[in-house]
Amino acid sequence: MNSRILVTGGAGFIGSHLVDRLIERGEEVLVIDDLSSGKTENLERWFGEKKFKFIKADLSEPGKWIDELKGIEAVFHFAANPEVRVSTTNPEVHYRANVQATFNVLEASRANGAEIFIYASSSTVYGEARVIPTPEDYEPKEPISIYGASKLMGEVLVSTYSRIYGVKSAMLRFANVVGKRSNHGVIFDFIAKLKRDPERLEILGDGKQRKSYIYIDDAIEATLKVMEHMESSQEMSEAFNVGSLDAIGVDDIAYIIEEEMGLGKVEHVFKSATHDGRGWIGDVKVMQLDVSKIMGKTNWKPKMNSREAVRKATKDLLERMEL
Ligand SMILES: NC(=O)c1ccc[n+]([C@@H]2O[C@H](COP(=O)([O-])OP(=O)(O)OC[C@H]3O[C@@H](n4cnc5c(N)ncnc54)[C@H](O)[C@@H]3O)[C@@H](O)[C@H]2O)c1
Repeated sequence: MNSRILVTGGAGFIGSHLVDRLIERGEEVLVIDDLSSGKTENLERWFGEKKFKFIKADLSEPGKWIDELKGIEAVFHFAANPEVRVSTTNPEVHYRANVQATFNVLEASRANGAEIFIYASSSTVYGEARVIPTPEDYEPKEPISIYGASKLMGEVLVSTYSRIYGVKSAMLRFANVVGKRSNHGVIFDFIAKLKRDPERLEILGDGKQRKSYIYIDDAIEATLKVMEHMESSQEMSEAFNVGSLDAIGVDDIAYIIEEEMGLGKVEHVFKSATHDGRGWIGDVKVMQLDVSKIMGKTNWKPKMNSREAVRKATKDLLERMEL
């Protein structure tokens, strides 16, 4: 394709893997990231390359970064604060990073004539869905976290911009994405805890949570397939679930990690934040997405199931976090 592409949040976990694949395909990539959770190390190999440019800027504030979007054809808006738990204690941070920033990026894209806008959304927009696996058209969408609400607000803005201003958009509702460079989430958390105490693991919630996990390579492949699909599709704005074909229980995740760390018997201690056994306020206990739409429209299919994704991600993280 050889386009000029913006990846916001490109120094983060998912964004940096996307940047790798786009540059490898020959695209010119501009990354804007405020490095609040992302790291320039994730992009190390591209600094000094002609087809790569990095700008450190906070997207929740309009600024000089807007002029850098001249000539941008496609925008991957992946910058956000992805911590569901923090969104409850400090909602304003999520409003600024996830809603205000999305608005600013949409405005900057409109001002510079971007044609395609791909937005990293989340399974949390469904809240506690009564249909599992949950399809894209499930209603009502009632998020149970401020994070989920902020992602849904972002979706509404993006799809409305498509209707009014004609930019083609896609919303990718990711399940839990895991793998190399991830710096948050259950696997990261369990490994850190087990390193501190290899005999006892505190599990947040009552242990009955079952969720879907997707390996980073599968998530990036899905993202690129959606971009290709958009180039020929007549639809102005579409949402796609991106997840694996199954789910895994939180206790099984703990067993996989303990096995990979070569630990003996570990005592599991459950700690709920709510009467109904949630690990934290806003914790959706059962999540699995219906991915038949993306599979039908783009012929993408996840290569790993949730168990394989968790095991591979555990190996990746253990390689990085010296034991
Ligand atoms: N990881 C998952 O399991 C998951 C699941 C569903 C959706 N998502 C979404 O995917 C996207 C990427 O998530 P991730 O897991 O890679 O998280 P991440 O924290 O690794 O990446 C987010 C990036 O955005 C940057 N950022 C945050 N606020 C910013 C701001 N105001 N201005 C500029 N840059 C800013 C951070 O520095 C970081 O590099 C997010 O939109 C997230 O909501 C992630």
